Amino acid sequence: MKRRHFSAAALAAVTFAAALPALAQDNTFKIGLILPMTGQQATTGRQIEAAARLYMAQNGDTVAGKKIQLIVKDDTSLPDATRRLAQELVVNDKVNVLAGFGITPSALATAPIATQSKTPLVVMAAATSSITEASPYVVRTSFTLPQVSVALADWAPKNGIKKVVTLVSDYGPGIDAEKYFKERLTFNGGQVTESLRVPMRNPDFAPFLQKVRDLKPDALFVFVPSGAGAAVMKQFLERGMDKAGIKLIATGDVTDDDQLNDMGDGALGVVTSHHYSAAHPSALNKKFVAAFEKANKGMRPNFMAVGGYDGMRVIYEALRTAKTTGKAMPSGDALLAAMKGQIFESPRGKMFIDAQTRDVVQDVYLRKVEKKDGQLFNVEFDVIKDVKDPGKTK
Ligand code: PHB
Repeated sequence: MKRRHFSAAALAAVTFAAALPALAQDNTFKIGLILPMTGQQATTGRQIEAAARLYMAQNGDTVAGKKIQLIVKDDTSLPDATRRLAQELVVNDKVNVLAGFGITPSALATAPIATQSKTPLVVMAAATSSITEASPYVVRTSFTLPQVSVALADWAPKNGIKKVVTLVSDYGPGIDAEKYFKERLTFNGGQVTESLRVPMRNPDFAPFLQKVRDLKPDALFVFVPSGAGAAVMKQFLERGMDKAGIKLIATGDVTDDDQLNDMGDGALGVVTSHHYSAAHPSALNKKFVAAFEKANKGMRPNFMAVGGYDGMRVIYEALRTAKTTGKAMPSGDALLAAMKGQIFESPRGKMFIDAQTRDVVQDVYLRKVEKKDGQLFNVEFDVIKDVKDPGKTK
């Protein structure tokens, strides 16, 4: 057998080549973005990924001398998959930040991984109040259901709505919406006469709406997650609930900008409360909406997109300002510290990350569906400034 001989130069070249990926890796800041890209919550994934990519296109992919790499994974909105993907991203890819999280169960399933690995976990979508308490490494840029539901319960009794039936998806955010809406409405002298919960997966609203028709309240208050609003609206109108004198009021998840324009004129006049509308009349939002639509074949950004866009802002700013020694990559703890207390103007309006709770504090708007230039929008008509998550004061 002929023995192979390597020259010293060849060996050095091999060694150098082997060392290259490690060198490149040291300078790469990785964001593991876990989203539902397929299945029932796919619109959330589509919106957030598009927003994250827009943020990077506008702000470059180099921050503080580090190259930003976005690694997108599809969890199909199954929490077991979210947790497994997070584990792989932390252990194999050595991501610096975990982000995304389309639904509450996905965020809750992953929180322990963030704690164990000391990796900041930026929740861009999920909105159950308790998520930020599941790990000290959770930071939220979306919203909470108590935060937006209370505003509507203040508005309703002042506008002739005293008796209300609530209809919510039967899991974290729905239960939060039901509880905080009811508490505040009752405090204001109104009454929730019945609380209905529909399954989160593949809900059939028909039997519930029939029941509401029979109960004949002044209004029906609804929370369903982004993507399910159009089905509720369709069945509400098909059953002639509006003609029977029952008003539809909801969190902005129902008149979701991703679907609103296809809901038809039956949606006109529906009053909702939320933190973001594509029609928010600020210069920054107009620029954001135009750029988002241009980059995505006319797709209108919804509140999920804004959660993703602002989440990227929080991550970029943390990397830019985190305390490090020399050129080293900032630790998870240093990044987390630099995320706390950030205050900035978002397309939604002013927002900040409460340093104590790591949750978002923001303005909440009352909006009404109106036609503008032939398209349906949530037009803001009132604002409650600097709303903290009421779920945190208990
Ligand atoms: C959630 O699962 O926390 C969630 C999902 C979609 C929404 C709101 C909350 O629109």
